[in-house]
Amino acid sequence: RGDFTLKGKAAAEVVVVGGGIAGLAAAYELGKAGYDCTVLEARGRTGGRNFTVRGGDSTTDAYGNTQTARFTDGQYMNAGPARIPQWMVTLDYCRELGVPIEVFTNVNAHAYIFNEKAGMKAPVRYRTAKADVYGYVAELLAKATDKGALDRQITAEDQERLLEFLKDFGDIGDTLDYTGSTRRGYRIDPAAAGAPGEELGSVPSVSEVFASGVGRYFSFEFEYDQAMLMFQPVGGMDRIPAALTRAIGERRIRTGAVVGDITDTAHGVTVTYTQGGRTRTIDADYCIAALPPNILAKTAHNLGPAVQAALEACKPSSAGKIGLEYRSRWWETDHRIYGGITETDMDLAHIWYPSYGHHGERGTLIGYYNYGAQADAYAALTPREREARAVAQGVKIHGEKYRTELASSFSHHWRQTPHLEAAWHSLSGGPDAPAFAPLNQAAGRVYFAGDYLSHTDAWQHGAFTSARKAVTALHARVLA
Ligand code: PHE
Repeated sequence: RGDFTLKGKAAAEVVVVGGGIAGLAAAYELGKAGYDCTVLEARGRTGGRNFTVRGGDSTTDAYGNTQTARFTDGQYMNAGPARIPQWMVTLDYCRELGVPIEVFTNVNAHAYIFNEKAGMKAPVRYRTAKADVYGYVAELLAKATDKGALDRQITAEDQERLLEFLKDFGDIGDTLDYTGSTRRGYRIDPAAAGAPGEELGSVPSVSEVFASGVGRYFSFEFEYDQAMLMFQPVGGMDRIPAALTRAIGERRIRTGAVVGDITDTAHGVTVTYTQGGRTRTIDADYCIAALPPNILAKTAHNLGPAVQAALEACKPSSAGKIGLEYRSRWWETDHRIYGGITETDMDLAHIWYPSYGHHGERGTLIGYYNYGAQADAYAALTPREREARAVAQGVKIHGEKYRTELASSFSHHWRQTPHLEAAWHSLSGGPDAPAFAPLNQAAGRVYFAGDYLSHTDAWQHGAFTSARKAVTALHARVLA
């Protein structure tokens, strides 16, 4: 179990700057150990990048685009974190806080791959592309082995074992030729006696398969942080900050509180913030600075040039998503796709089918999820233009219903979101590189926490574990 509790009780006042997952986790854990915490959050709600958009939610981005979501009841999009691997402590917090979870489908053999730029004329099912790639790779390696190309590498006996494996892995048969496989799927599915089904037509050549670039997607699910099973909270990812907020106590959290200055004194920390047009200060024994580093770098403080240089060395990254609500779940009825991801080389990058609400009346896709320059290109458009661009690309994969069944959309870009201005951060050499040492220890009475200070940047697990590390160090000092 990944449960965590500080050992021994202590009493001190702590001001937590930033009500994202790291800040909330710090306040929650310190609260369990007897501390008196106050959380200052600049936005109107807690959670930071953990943001679930439902009907009525409104945002204004850095370009001045204001959107109000028109999603119908029960429909939502997770604009930030949306999938949780089984090993991450995020699931332990769900259990401890009573947040119900369900499977998030990260890979679906029946979803599509469409590399338009690579010259594909039509989308292929993930399973079809995989059968072809694995089939040809198996054929080539098997034939090379058969011709003695591995004689110096492995014994004849091991070559036999390798061939056995490859025949099965690629479904290539005794001639070692890949000529297709039922693994590719069917044009007409198998049914009753007399109806064996009809396999998909012509198998592309080995050259066509590699030229299409479909092979690059199959290693995604090999990654330690992207392998199935994955999970999501039932009803939206923000069930996590909502539960943390309840556990901490609403009265300890001040939203709309924009921090202007953090001053470490010999005996405590003074934080100045503005809330509702008024400037206020709060004095505490300690501070947990849980703002994104790029925002902290723009906040006045007296923590010294080494801290400032380290904060400035954390480079913000972009990511964006659009939620598309549809009047019908045509991807389930017409395409037989129940969750999972379609992969493309178009600038929408990924399309996510919802992992909740199967067979319901309506449903909400993620019409793009992209990073870096692709995300910034979409961000520079108006919300209407973003929708038009995403839909025009999606139509190429799914046909006209992608346009005609659309009810409404909502797009979100983290680099252009006030008070956050990043989806995640890149730290050259990782969080343990010497440049970041000033952030991995207390600066006087100020402790830093955030996913950027973890080896799982861009995951809530990073925020949770970083917060645990900070409060453990703070607690040891208070008890000493
Ligand atoms: N955690 C985010 C996601 O799963 C960002 C990320 C993407 C992190 C890919 C690692 C790898 O989408």
